[in-house]
Amino acid sequence: MKDIQMVDLKSQYQKIKPAVDKAINEVIESAQFINGPEVKAFQSEMEAYLVVKHVIPCANGTDALQIALMALGLKPGDEVITTSFTFIATVEVIALLGLKPIFVDVDKDTFCIDTSKIEEAITNKTKAIVPVHLYGQAANMEEILSVAKKHNIAVVEDNAQAIGSDYHCADGNQKAGTLGDVGCTSFFPSKNLGCYGDGGAIFTNNDELAAKMRMIVNHGQSKRYYHDMVGVNSRLDSIQAAVLRIKLRELDNYINARRKVADYYDNFFAQFDGIKTPVRGSQSRHVFHQYTLTLEGIDRDALNQFLAEKGIPSMIYYPVPAHKQKMFSAFGSAETHLPVTDWLGERVLSLPIHTEMEEEQLAHICNGVADFMKVNA
Ligand SMILES: Cc1ncc(COP(=O)(O)O)c(C=O)c1O
Repeated sequence: MKDIQMVDLKSQYQKIKPAVDKAINEVIESAQFINGPEVKAFQSEMEAYLVVKHVIPCANGTDALQIALMALGLKPGDEVITTSFTFIATVEVIALLGLKPIFVDVDKDTFCIDTSKIEEAITNKTKAIVPVHLYGQAANMEEILSVAKKHNIAVVEDNAQAIGSDYHCADGNQKAGTLGDVGCTSFFPSKNLGCYGDGGAIFTNNDELAAKMRMIVNHGQSKRYYHDMVGVNSRLDSIQAAVLRIKLRELDNYINARRKVADYYDNFFAQFDGIKTPVRGSQSRHVFHQYTLTLEGIDRDALNQFLAEKGIPSMIYYPVPAHKQKMFSAFGSAETHLPVTDWLGERVLSLPIHTEMEEEQLAHICNGVADFMKVNA
């Protein structure tokens, strides 16, 4: 049996190696490393896949979020509602721009923002909501958009973990990340659509915001050496775009492979009281960036250790919620009452899930958990 990893990028690469090697070599031969034809082609292919008017490639998912918030023209002190149960980047960019993160608790089943608690967090300083489509399924966007519309607040979707997920709207499916004013994603290598370095993108159907964000990613430049606003330097390089073009063609297959792994786990773990498998919300198709268990009455650290001894990695995403991170102590956010976030933070455990998992590996992981349950039940 191959070693079990949280994500197996080496095996995935072997399957697309000829195409990837050829594409990378062509970029090198062309010497068009920055903003070359590969980036433009990837941009249009991504627009077609997402059915969105504008895709703006950038350097990483963190930049994507920052650029989106910059384009909204928020002022220092403005409040941005988001969740604490996320990767730090979501909240970090809010603070970096002098904005105030306002944390709303998450839903115990979907790990996404609890939409019933958004309205009570809104003040006259609230300017944006940043829902995070955590672990691979979208937050309840219809409710978020309806509250946002009522209060005239922008919505920036953090779609770093749910690229390719279909959101089921009343009038048909739409891709997650294309429902709000702006959607952001990351092409970090381990993401469902990952490149071979850093990368990210911003999506919008709003022409005005798109024009602004295209300027911001390029030093606020309207034409060469004319800078109309303060921007950043955030580019997706041509080699990454070339890799992404190949992997975008595989994305739906990759998602199906992940969903099969999730089905296998779901079936196996159904027998154990205390192991709650991921709840697939009705609002979106789960693309299983992570397969995250919620453990009730089970010693998570002991399970993590037990599995590690059998060569089975497992991870806690994320061990410290954002509101309890030292970096936000100045906001006094550690005092924020987020009971579900805190509760989940002590109970979640993510198991290996990726596109190349073999049945033998899955059986070994499941048996590892079963052995632990036998000893510790
Ligand atoms: C939810 C979430 N937001 C933002 C990011 C930031 O993306 P990047 O690492 O590409 O900057 C990530 C990726 O790690 C993420 O998982």
